[in-house]
Amino acid sequence: MQHYQDKGWQESMRVRIDFNNMMKSHVGQYGLEEAELRAYEGRFARAAENMISKRGDMKWRELPHNQNEIVDRILETAQYVRANFDTFVVLGIGGSALGPTAVQQALSHLRYNDLPKEKRNGPKLYVEDNVDPERMASLLDVIDIEHTCFNVITKSGSTSETMSQLLLITHLLREKCGDQWTEHLIATTDVQKGNLIKIAKQNGLRTFYVPDGVGGRFSELCPVGLIAAAVCGIDIKQLLAGAAYMDEITQEKDVWKNPAYMLAALEVVAMEKGCNISVLMPYADSLKYIADWYAQLWAESLGKNVDLDGHTVHVGQTPVKSLGVTDQHSQVQLYTEGPFDKVITLLGVDAYRTQMTIPHAFDDIPDVAFLSGRTFNELIQAERFATEYALTKSGHMNKTIVLPEVNAFTIGELLYMFEVQTAFAGELLNINTFNQPGVEEGKNATYALLGKAGYDEKKKELDAAKPKCECYIL
Ligand code: PA5
Repeated sequence: MQHYQDKGWQESMRVRIDFNNMMKSHVGQYGLEEAELRAYEGRFARAAENMISKRGDMKWRELPHNQNEIVDRILETAQYVRANFDTFVVLGIGGSALGPTAVQQALSHLRYNDLPKEKRNGPKLYVEDNVDPERMASLLDVIDIEHTCFNVITKSGSTSETMSQLLLITHLLREKCGDQWTEHLIATTDVQKGNLIKIAKQNGLRTFYVPDGVGGRFSELCPVGLIAAAVCGIDIKQLLAGAAYMDEITQEKDVWKNPAYMLAALEVVAMEKGCNISVLMPYADSLKYIADWYAQLWAESLGKNVDLDGHTVHVGQTPVKSLGVTDQHSQVQLYTEGPFDKVITLLGVDAYRTQMTIPHAFDDIPDVAFLSGRTFNELIQAERFATEYALTKSGHMNKTIVLPEVNAFTIGELLYMFEVQTAFAGELLNINTFNQPGVEEGKNATYALLGKAGYDEKKKELDAAKPKCECYIL
């Protein structure tokens, strides 16, 4: 038995939430009253029922449970990559990139790529989620194509950004590696739809599937995220075990006992009172990109113009990513003294993986000496508590999520909790959480602008757009 299968250990690693400072009793007039939350009970209950009746459609919910075989294949492939390549590059965007970045930052060394090879736990990892020509060129300056394996990830198999990266890399691989080029590519895509699956089959690429019913931003716990993690030596079985544990916890129907439902309820109730901004502020560099991943999950899932009954609603909170303590010196002034239009979520860690003492050096200067003998651990914790205190004192709603420590299990819990939170918020808002028509519009316009077949009508629509007025261009 693995240590993470032990019930006692799991309980000790349980992610906790504390929402005292969302309440009027603690934060004052701009907080929520318990009666206000109780007034939502009917909506909470309906949303909880929907989460049960729609579970069959939310295929991402089963990922912690139904991937034994695929995990074995991923581990085999990871072994192949680790044995044969110096560098692993993910080509993807949105849900196909943010998860791999977040998990790598959380669970690998914080300066992983800078470590010497013998100290790294696998090949260097780059996640390329933009088509900025300067960034593409700079990647080619730092990697050696002949020793690099590329994982091209696109569920639709047609996203322009990812497909253009694939074209570039295929061209370079053919040039440098000849017939061996296919050994350098792994495709992760839909089993049937799109162009990548055609390319993968035609060329015999190693291929993994994004399971049906698992959308991009809910796909970190399938091959989309697990391959890169396994290549870098992250324990993906433990990651999935953490998610499974959170699945158990979040099957509770009562909002008052279900942390994911309560987090969603607090955001939605606050949003309906005018808090249109949701800030996630991790107090750990390892969790920095969890805030990026959450921003996409929250924005793309909940930013919708119509509800499921066809009413125009234009709902959604704007997610803001922040980093403690860094952004205490950048954004916290606004959070403590600015408008009451935000919910601020601090993401803390009880035990950091390193303990570091602040040494003595200038004991004759009391204003500096008070730090000596303390630890950076104490300092960052004190600063989190101080920010919580300042926000609360100034009457700004805030809550805290705490990870006992950052490990594969707690990261699995956290990702799964945020996914359930988002799905539950979508049910409360009665919207389609899982589509992204606004993203599709931009994708289609790009196709039309670049002359893709079948987009003539869209091109005409774009050509007919109102011309810009010179007078508004300075
Ligand atoms: O969450 C989503 O569905 C999107 O953000 C997609 O991940 C993103 O648009 C990339 O799509 P694809 O994986 O089809 O290339």
